[in-house]
Amino acid sequence: MSSGNNNPIGVFDSGIGGLSVANAISGLLPNESLIYFADTGRVPYGPRSRKEITDFSAEITQFLLDHQCKMIVVACNTATAAGLESLRKQWPEIPFIGMEPAVKPAAEATRSGKVGVLATLSTIRSERYAELMRRYAANVQVFENPCIGLVPLIEAGKLNHPDTIEQLKEILIPMLQEDVDTIVLGCTHYPFLLPFPKDIVPSDCKIIDPAPAVARQVARRLGNLALVASSAHQAEYHFYRSGAVADLSLFTKLPWQIHPVMEMLKG
Ligand code: DGL
Repeated sequence: MSSGNNNPIGVFDSGIGGLSVANAISGLLPNESLIYFADTGRVPYGPRSRKEITDFSAEITQFLLDHQCKMIVVACNTATAAGLESLRKQWPEIPFIGMEPAVKPAAEATRSGKVGVLATLSTIRSERYAELMRRYAANVQVFENPCIGLVPLIEAGKLNHPDTIEQLKEILIPMLQEDVDTIVLGCTHYPFLLPFPKDIVPSDCKIIDPAPAVARQVARRLGNLALVASSAHQAEYHFYRSGAVADLSLFTKLPWQIHPVMEMLKG
């Protein structure tokens, strides 16, 4: 039997969005235990300042490290853009995996040369995003939307709700009218809205959810660092939250053990 490192992988997001990433990790790596932290008491992060998001991310990282996590997945584009660099500086010995809008694969996939990016305001305004655009989007036209108010609707469990559909129309129709044929989900909450209604987004429009690529990156890093769990290890899933969650069963099939952590609630 192979020996391994059976400590959990820590995964966090402002809320339940990062469960789209946790699901992809558990699908690819069924022996890995996960500790997920949803900062549901302080969601959304999108409109917050870089400093606030960085401070929250450091606080959650400390929490996950106190729970013996061997790797931290920042399953939030907004927290990655604001704070990943500072987390890596603060904990140089810890492997961190971050998220970023999949501009590169979108620029490669588009046939019309027009790409849509759905992300939070904080991500779109970040230096990291500007760098992505400089590197990969020089030859394509990018239409961004900060999707204000969409994350709270998803957190409230209103996936097929008329308010959500209405907002999706307002976000997507103008992009599609510009001939966008590839849409990047640059926030981990948005995959829960898939499939987009056919009367809004035509079926030949490509939608890019980066979660499977991030899960593959987690697998590679664990392998390179000899941190893979043993093949006999029975994975456990612990879900910590700093505020209420509308309906967790809506979002994941994993057997999460749910723990409220109200003392994290400061801001
Ligand atoms: N899920 C997050 C992301 O990937 C942030 C959403 C929010 O809190 O505004 O960007």
